Amino acid sequence: MSYLGIDLGTSGLRALLMSEDGHVFGAVERHYTSQHKHSGWSEQDPSCWTNALEAAAVTLRDTYPEFAHLKAIGVAGHMHGATLLDQAGKVIRPCILWNDTRSDVEAQRLDATQGVRDMSANIVFPGFTAPKLLWVKQHEPDNFARVAKVLLPAAYLNFHLTGDHVADMSDSAGTSWFNVAQRDWSAKLLAAGQMRPDQMPRLVEGSEPAGTLLPAIAGRWGLGPDVVVAGGAGDNAAAACGIGALNEGDGFLSLGTSGVLLAARDGCYPAPASALHTFCHAVPDRWYQMGVMLSATDSLNWLSSITGTSAPDLTSSLGDDLRAPGDLLFLPYLSGERTPHNDADIRGSFIGLSVSTDVTNLTQAVLEGVAFGLRDQLEAFRQTGTKIDRLMAIGGGAKSRYWLKLIATVLNVTLDRPQAGEFGAAIGAARLAIMARTAATAERTLTKPGISEVIIPTPALIEEFEQAYKRFRSSYQPIKSIQSRTSVRQ
Ligand code: XUL
Repeated sequence: MSYLGIDLGTSGLRALLMSEDGHVFGAVERHYTSQHKHSGWSEQDPSCWTNALEAAAVTLRDTYPEFAHLKAIGVAGHMHGATLLDQAGKVIRPCILWNDTRSDVEAQRLDATQGVRDMSANIVFPGFTAPKLLWVKQHEPDNFARVAKVLLPAAYLNFHLTGDHVADMSDSAGTSWFNVAQRDWSAKLLAAGQMRPDQMPRLVEGSEPAGTLLPAIAGRWGLGPDVVVAGGAGDNAAAACGIGALNEGDGFLSLGTSGVLLAARDGCYPAPASALHTFCHAVPDRWYQMGVMLSATDSLNWLSSITGTSAPDLTSSLGDDLRAPGDLLFLPYLSGERTPHNDADIRGSFIGLSVSTDVTNLTQAVLEGVAFGLRDQLEAFRQTGTKIDRLMAIGGGAKSRYWLKLIATVLNVTLDRPQAGEFGAAIGAARLAIMARTAATAERTLTKPGISEVIIPTPALIEEFEQAYKRFRSSYQPIKSIQSRTSVRQ
């Protein structure tokens, strides 16, 4: 018996085949690009997701005999994207993605509408789904008039796989149309966003069955008639499932395109004023809080692209031992920022460049700037009373030991590196598939990985980094902050 976990990411789709006891048979990836027609825009044609899924599934089928015994599929996806379908189920326009900030004005207006933050448990960020639809209404009225259903990217793959419009709670929580505490669409929020309940998909928990694989796809993939498709999840909830972050005190630091600190919660404890996100977890009766930095590894990748040096070469130039903070400061806001600034217009900068600044200095500043941005998130958690002393470190950037030592010291938290293996959203999605098919409990299925290394803060440098963090904070004072936006609204 086998289970398929799909991680529909921003730059590619990962499909992972796993046994019921967690053994990974294999995984394949197919890449695609995003289109940026204007500054701040980010779109993908959903056909690139379904093509990637088909290609990945066929490769798994042809490589692993276990694929023939597939029992269930779970899909995790990048969150907040608006995939608009017409009455016939046809995609109306390219999906507007989570990192698209064109609907800043609509987001501010909706965020200022009475009751919206309280019911949705979150600030309405420009990346969220509801303001995107208001933008479409304003700028593409013909498209807006044709919208019969709005699906998030993972729900669109559920639709491709089952023929049914069905979404899970964790992803739906990021739309600003959803009552996060009650785990249901909110008629009031939908009305505020000028949408109708019939335009929303049916809801299931991520670990519940959403439907059955369409016979045409099952036939193509050489599968039987009863393959279950789980509700699935937003990618962060799925990643939490993948490392067993389920209960109070569990959490992770994810260093991917975006930089995320996530803490699992046993209740819904919204804290929108802190710009933390509060979303449903992918299993019933659980929620999570997270801070989101929009350009984490993206900042390093940007430096890599303009210097023509690979990211691993850049970081290895710093050596193994953590250096004292440099004089050069980097503000990592290359694509705007969510936590804590909620500012789509803010941009990055280097402060303190001199004629002797070299690429190693730039690299050190970039890694430190991202670490300070994550510290801002930690401060937001602290303001809300959430305690974080230890986090699992996952994501591509976590391969750099230097970066982890730096972050552990700047945050003054212990970071656990999981043993070699799979720790992304794909494994979480495969685990949700197991739960949907077998009714296995979350406690039994969403276990924690073994730890290969514990990275503790470097005591001799904690105070110096504390001072450097203060310099970082004061460097963005003139930029409009969340407080000044709030006062503009009032
Ligand atoms: C979360 C968010 C991103 C995306 C892409 O709110 O926007 O983490 O899910 O990974």
